[in-house]
Amino acid sequence: MDIKTAIESRHSVRQYTEEPVSADVRAALEQEVESCNSRGNLHMKLVWDEPEAFDSAMAHYGKFSEVRNYLVVAGSPAADLDERGGYRGEHITLRAQQLGLSSCWVAMTFKRRYVRSHLERGDQMVVVIALGHGATQGVAHKSKTASDVSNATADSPAWFSHGVECALLAPTAMNQQSFSITLTGDTNANGLPMVRLENKGGAYSKVDLGIVRCHFELGAGEGTFAWA
Ligand SMILES: Cc1cc2nc3c(=O)[nH]c(=O)nc-3n(C[C@H](O)[C@H](O)[C@H](O)COP(=O)(O)O)c2cc1C
Repeated sequence: MDIKTAIESRHSVRQYTEEPVSADVRAALEQEVESCNSRGNLHMKLVWDEPEAFDSAMAHYGKFSEVRNYLVVAGSPAADLDERGGYRGEHITLRAQQLGLSSCWVAMTFKRRYVRSHLERGDQMVVVIALGHGATQGVAHKSKTASDVSNATADSPAWFSHGVECALLAPTAMNQQSFSITLTGDTNANGLPMVRLENKGGAYSKVDLGIVRCHFELGAGEGTFAWA
């Protein structure tokens, strides 16, 4: 599955089957986590076969069932930890999608006590991402339009429009899509057009911003632009 298909087919899935994740898929995802940890200076951790964290009234009320695997997104406390966690965590959910697994970012409905036990000393948890074989593939979220979140027009370069399209497919907390993307009209020292991504606020919007940054980059293509 190419990355564009992974972006289009990924939807939050809250109900999973009991099918265990194969050793090959685990190994491939562990490798991705290792690479994202080292690039993003994070301490994310995959937890396999641990049903307790999502076995609570709150998790069931939140419609989660049979969650046995999850990624703890965490790192040393820092001002940009949430955004880095969002950015690298989304690379992992897209890799999971390519490997045939479904996912759901989760900020609220899990037992923190169980998840905290997987943190390294002094680390701060950002959120958790549930992972596994989905009972369904989820559904596309209701979305704002390109003009709601960006200055894209019919005359915009194709790479910019693709970036915005992929940004609109990104998961955001409560589907708030509280961001704005601007093609500034300026170029950087290397002549690359500059794009500005702004946070419009809301709960977990710094995490959202990292996720959206990841999607925009994958949609626009590496080397086509620079962040302002
Ligand atoms: C940072 C973040 C936190 C989230 N927290 C929760 C949560 O606590 N419970 C939940 O059911 N979904 C949660 N979600 C999933 C969003 O509701 C979902 O991504 C959004 O509605 C868009 O739908 P989609 O992921 O299917 O595209 C969270 C998503 C993000 C990005």
